[in-house]
Amino acid sequence: MSGVVGQRVDLPRDFAPLLIEWQRRAGRSGMPWQGSRDPYRVWLSEVMLQQTQVSTVLGYYARFLERFPDVQALAAAEADEVMALWSGLGYYSRARNLHRCAQAVVEQHGGEFPSTAAGLETLPGIGASTAAAIASFCFGERVSIVDGNVRRVLTRLLAFEGDLAQTKSQRALWALAQALLPDNPAADDMTAYTQGLMDLGATVCTRSRPACGQCPMQGICRGLQAGEPQRFPVKSRTLKRRHESWWLLLVKLADGPERFWLQRRPASGIWAGLYCPPVFESEQAAHAGLPSAWVDRLVALDAVSHSLTHRELRLHPLLLELTSAPMPGELPEGRWVDAARLGQHGLPTPVKLLLQALQTPDLFAQT
Ligand code: ADE
Repeated sequence: MSGVVGQRVDLPRDFAPLLIEWQRRAGRSGMPWQGSRDPYRVWLSEVMLQQTQVSTVLGYYARFLERFPDVQALAAAEADEVMALWSGLGYYSRARNLHRCAQAVVEQHGGEFPSTAAGLETLPGIGASTAAAIASFCFGERVSIVDGNVRRVLTRLLAFEGDLAQTKSQRALWALAQALLPDNPAADDMTAYTQGLMDLGATVCTRSRPACGQCPMQGICRGLQAGEPQRFPVKSRTLKRRHESWWLLLVKLADGPERFWLQRRPASGIWAGLYCPPVFESEQAAHAGLPSAWVDRLVALDAVSHSLTHRELRLHPLLLELTSAPMPGELPEGRWVDAARLGQHGLPTPVKLLLQALQTPDLFAQT
């Protein structure tokens, strides 16, 4: 029994054995990071999978491992190359932390990842849930992951009324997740249990239309017994994205091989460290500073929308095609990047798509 923010919760004792049995029988298998107890491979997959679907991750994971087969290779890489290989996966702070983490493992831990969740959590970019995933998959540690999917599974299972917008409820749920872990698990049991939590959340206990009829927990799920599993998790405050419009000055030079004028974004903020055409807050601001003959030649392309965690961006591309190189100072700060080398630069996805649409096909075939 546990007291949980005003709610008494009796834990369903069968949860762990049912989950382990179900994962082995019906859970996901055959993913390239499964079956490995190499923390480097598991860590890489977990970071990639944090906000990205398995189907998208597969190609990136293979390319990363081919280029950086171990943590030493990744630590020794140039940051730009890591960003370029990450380009398109989004949430670029993950890539920057990935690189920093590899360097910390090599420099501070002799090239070996720490073998406990607590030790892993001290590394850049490894939060509590990722640390728990690596520790349970690789070292059989009896520790629970609690990511968004797992919060959904557990709050439904327990009809947990705590408001997850509040830290005390999050802590209470974490304590319940720990209490639900299998008793004295073998390492293989922890692997199946952790994977089972992920699989159940991703494939059965889904956000909008949970497949309760196929759920191994249907006999013990209190959310289902109450007739409304989808009421959980309870969360009072939902994320509101701010709307913002950006004007992108896309300058293409065609006095030889195609080139684009790109700036490196500042080290913090949106698209930090990635390459991007100069960004302006208004069309007027984009015009200011350009020779007036160029302003007349600007072509406004169709606007595109792009969602970030806290922003809804509306991107307005303004295309300027030049046939001879401008004089110094005629363009905002930046540099020419050959179209053929764009694939070697970290580019935000909407920028990559825009530039792709503006140039000869196949130059991106590698990326
Ligand atoms: N999401 C996060 N980690 C995962 C994993 N190991 N397998 C499938 N989806 C995941």
